[in-house]
Amino acid sequence: MLEELNAIHQDALKEINGLTDESRLEEFRIRYLGKKGRLTAASAGMKDVPKEEKPAIGQKLNEVRTAITEAIDTRTGQMIAERDARATDGLDVTLPGRPLPAGALHPLTQILSQATGILRRMGFALATGPEIETEWHCFDALNTPADHPARNESDTFYFDNGMLLRTHTSSVQVRTMESQTPPVRIIAPGSAFRRDEIDATHLSAFNQLEGLYVAEHVTLGDLKGTLQTFFRGMFGADTEIRFRPHFFPFTEPSFEIDIKLQATGKEPKWLEMAGCGMVDPAVFEAVSKARGDNAFDPDKVTGFAFGVGLDRLAMVKWGIADIRHLIENDQRFLKQFAG
Ligand code: PHE
Repeated sequence: MLEELNAIHQDALKEINGLTDESRLEEFRIRYLGKKGRLTAASAGMKDVPKEEKPAIGQKLNEVRTAITEAIDTRTGQMIAERDARATDGLDVTLPGRPLPAGALHPLTQILSQATGILRRMGFALATGPEIETEWHCFDALNTPADHPARNESDTFYFDNGMLLRTHTSSVQVRTMESQTPPVRIIAPGSAFRRDEIDATHLSAFNQLEGLYVAEHVTLGDLKGTLQTFFRGMFGADTEIRFRPHFFPFTEPSFEIDIKLQATGKEPKWLEMAGCGMVDPAVFEAVSKARGDNAFDPDKVTGFAFGVGLDRLAMVKWGIADIRHLIENDQRFLKQFAG
């Protein structure tokens, strides 16, 4: 048996150096060390070995098994090293990499994240609503009567079933008050649609950001402070802001907000940026009727709302002369906002 073990040992060592791929090596391992392998078969002879020789033969058996196992490990290591070396054949790893063209966020996306960032830091939560709206959410609940010009066929996109493309994001005010109770403090950015003649400052689909804060004791001072902080965050800490009396059916009093900006080499100018006001009690009443409770009792809560044009913000911020640039995806335009 000793000779048999020596023979197995020598055969194995001789054979293993000739093996050049890993599947052959595995096949080799099975042939020697596997359940039906040569060494296993030889060890079955142990039972016929005289008792006094058993320790010596047993030790030899272990030595041969260890030697073959180690040889396999070594050969595996060599094969991996050879394969790795071949992998970089013909490759110059010192060549500098080729730069990939970097993408960038669309200017409107940049404005959106800056605007929501400022307002979220002031405690406003993000809210959303559908772009296809009911007349009730878009107009009636917002104290906008049936004969109001905004509801005109020629100003609004209606569907046959009476739904419409929302003309402003103010519909989200109503949806939020239907589903939440005060205090409510939300912003709702999104698209709005009007049958506007398309020109340098109008598109039929544009973007707004709505804000609504309803709680006990919300005042016009809160509205002013919030919007001042917002526009200073957008345009710089010394930006001047002006509230100009205006009319919206769903706020009373209502204002338009202008900011004073100075383009390089030009006189400073007041630019209209947003609409806002204190929520009209009629809106709370409409919401209360729909809810069937007193959560928005106009004698208990007050609130302010505002709507900012996001396209307008982008145009003013970067001096973009034509709103159509924002939807044409001309790389010569977009590249100016990268990096
Ligand atoms: N929804 C108004 C618009 O589209 C803006 C606005 C929002 C005004 C909220 C007051 C309060 O012009």
